Amino acid sequence: MFSIKNKVIVITGGNGLLGKQMVSTLRDQGAVVIAADIYFEEKNEDDFILDITDENSVKNGVEAIFNKYKRLDGWVNNAYPRTSDWGNKFENIPLDSWRKNVDMHLNGYFLCCQVVLEQMREQGFGSLINMSSIYGLVGPDFTVYEGTEMTMPAAYAAIKGGLNNLTRYLASYYGSSQIRVNTVSPGGIYDNQEDSFVNNYNKKVPLKRMGSPKDIVSAVFYLLTDEASYVTGHNLVVDGGWSII
Ligand SMILES: NC(=O)c1ccc[n+]([C@@H]2O[C@H](COP(=O)([O-])OP(=O)(O)OC[C@H]3O[C@@H](n4cnc5c(N)ncnc54)[C@H](O)[C@@H]3O)[C@@H](O)[C@H]2O)c1
Repeated sequence: MFSIKNKVIVITGGNGLLGKQMVSTLRDQGAVVIAADIYFEEKNEDDFILDITDENSVKNGVEAIFNKYKRLDGWVNNAYPRTSDWGNKFENIPLDSWRKNVDMHLNGYFLCCQVVLEQMREQGFGSLINMSSIYGLVGPDFTVYEGTEMTMPAAYAAIKGGLNNLTRYLASYYGSSQIRVNTVSPGGIYDNQEDSFVNNYNKKVPLKRMGSPKDIVSAVFYLLTDEASYVTGHNLVVDGGWSII
């Protein structure tokens, strides 16, 4: 039960906070995992330079990975491209910045979905996961940011909300080809944020703590296994109960 042994799985943004944990845990579980990212401090054999915002990079990358490994069991859209002014308050967001963020993130995920799902259709199987967020599901509670410089960028709501429904569309479109498409929606992940934010967050969330990368990998793992073979179009929310109150 619940094995991903020998499955070939690509994680975009595989060098980031959640991506690194996905890569190492799934490798520990016996999968052949390719970390696909625009940047690596030190590139290992199964690391792959891929830019989700660049059509040639995605097309050539998927082709090269498929030619090398001869199959593609799983693909996790997990990259997190954003502009340097990400985090501006709503009233200060330049239209161009909004456009760039939607273009890099939502459209980058679209591009990967299109190229990867067509490749999976040819082979006749596959599981694709789009990493979403609680903020694709509910509006932010801005009180948790009080007393900090942090906020929740408006583009994130549009991007992740859009991704949730794009996922349902794709699950329906590719279902007859035996390809599954799901989202995983994490709550806030602890990453040495300011104490006041962490305290505010912990006080509100029913399980009284922020998430960890390991909490999220378990959900990703499940959706990649054959045990999830009847699960598609689902949004697996892993948020300590944040979105149910
Ligand atoms: N960390 C959280 O609290 C949290 C919560 C909810 C959802 N998420 C989602 O989880 C996913 C991963 O988030 P994270 O916190 O690990 O992000 P992160 O910033 O730690 O890592 C993102 C990775 O994406 C890579 N990347 C950026 N632009 C890229 C591009 N154009 N092509 C390929 N790779 C690119 C970066 O180099 C980096 O390694 C994102 O979709 C994010 O929205 C994160």
